[in-house]
Amino acid sequence: MKFPDGFLWGGAVAAHQLEGAWNEDGRGPSICDVLTGGAHGVPREITADGVEEGKNYPNQRGINYYHTFRRDDALFQEMGFKCFRTSISWSRIFPNGDDEEPNEAGLQFYEKLFEDYHAKGMEPVVTLSHFEMPLNLAKQGGFANRKAVDCFVRFATTVMERYKDLVKYWLTFNEVNNQMEMHTEIFPYTNSGIIPDPNDTPHEVEQKVWQAIHNEFVASALTVRKGHEINPDFRIGCMIAMVPIYPATCNPDDVMHAEVLMRDRYLFGDVYVNGEYPRYLLNRWKREGFTIKREPGDDEIIKAGTVDFISISYYMSAAVEADKVDEWDGHGLPGQVKNPFIAATDWGWQIDPVGLRYVLCSLYERYRKPIFVVENGIGMYETPDADGYVADDARISYLRSHIEQVGKAIALDGVEVMGYTVWGCIDVISFGTGEMKKRYGMIYVDADDYGKGSYLRSRKKSFEWYRQVIASNGETL
Ligand code: BG6
Repeated sequence: MKFPDGFLWGGAVAAHQLEGAWNEDGRGPSICDVLTGGAHGVPREITADGVEEGKNYPNQRGINYYHTFRRDDALFQEMGFKCFRTSISWSRIFPNGDDEEPNEAGLQFYEKLFEDYHAKGMEPVVTLSHFEMPLNLAKQGGFANRKAVDCFVRFATTVMERYKDLVKYWLTFNEVNNQMEMHTEIFPYTNSGIIPDPNDTPHEVEQKVWQAIHNEFVASALTVRKGHEINPDFRIGCMIAMVPIYPATCNPDDVMHAEVLMRDRYLFGDVYVNGEYPRYLLNRWKREGFTIKREPGDDEIIKAGTVDFISISYYMSAAVEADKVDEWDGHGLPGQVKNPFIAATDWGWQIDPVGLRYVLCSLYERYRKPIFVVENGIGMYETPDADGYVADDARISYLRSHIEQVGKAIALDGVEVMGYTVWGCIDVISFGTGEMKKRYGMIYVDADDYGKGSYLRSRKKSFEWYRQVIASNGETL
């Protein structure tokens, strides 16, 4: 299997999951700093009023990358990464979100970081909003409050101007569609800074989320426009979590049910790429009684700020049955059932390499835009030997089978794929559970869920395997 020349192989992380140093050098508190550690089946708690004594806040520590980035980057360089995806922590730059001036120490940190990537031959791929906003803005309603649009665009403009010669690839909002699970508190909170309010009815929660989504579309479009003015060579993309939803059977009702649910992913691509709201969404708002405040000029802004490419995360697929919708408790997908044809990880994520080719084809056929796979990987429990070595054959097999499908999408289906970055190429704090023990890395980090450990790094078996994949441009899998 040959991948195109210039294919962007690499790894991906997010600031809040690895930097630590949550209150250093002028950084303000972000929404992730007040998320407690959870576990599989135990939700993370949001203590938005502040840090509560005796609780465990893993994102405050990350894996201390803020202080170790040069050494960690050297390991990525050793694997031969062509690119490295991380995010900018908004509250390092604007500690409260609505400050008059940016925090120079924060700007300097990312300047050093991006220079280091270049020095090590890695093209930075930078997410502007990866589940982080200054806590102060969340307390004012997050993205449900229009004020966040101006604050975000100011933040985005500030960093795009500052790094205009260092960063070419930008992503706006990470996995922006997670919040379609509107009643799983962590998603509206991390996507849009919507703090759960026990007084809200389900309809009121949904109203807030839809308003936030509209405001994010406006913020993204303004950012794309500004970015292209700052540097016409910038390539600015959206980021969608692509969990394909299959009908569990060929019963037409299951097929249609899955099709309608897929709109919860496609609606984002439809607006980002086509620059207008699809009719099925406008009909839905009307039918379900949502009134979205769209300011004069918003439609033109959205039309003018369409993305250059689509980026996706891909971990798993899902299956649904129309008959099971009545049993739905408001979490996960209505009518979701287990797919008997595929295995699942210890966290219940269904492993489906073919699904990756399937989504690449569907997205490309729908949008005709290049696609960047900016997250793929498997979370596993791991115990290293005395030398810190982990024989993570299951990870190798997961990554190999998924990369094979990317290769098929390129070679057989003609999909333009820009690159592939392994999620959590170094063990980081899990987003969903806040655990350290849900490990994705090719580099082991000696730390536990409570921050105990030496934080030393060691190479796993997949480290050498991925090095060879990159060195052979995907031929040696
Ligand atoms: C995506 C996110 O949801 O998947 C990452 O963009 C996250 O931030 C990754 O870490 C894996 O999820 P989790 O919950 O296993 O860490």
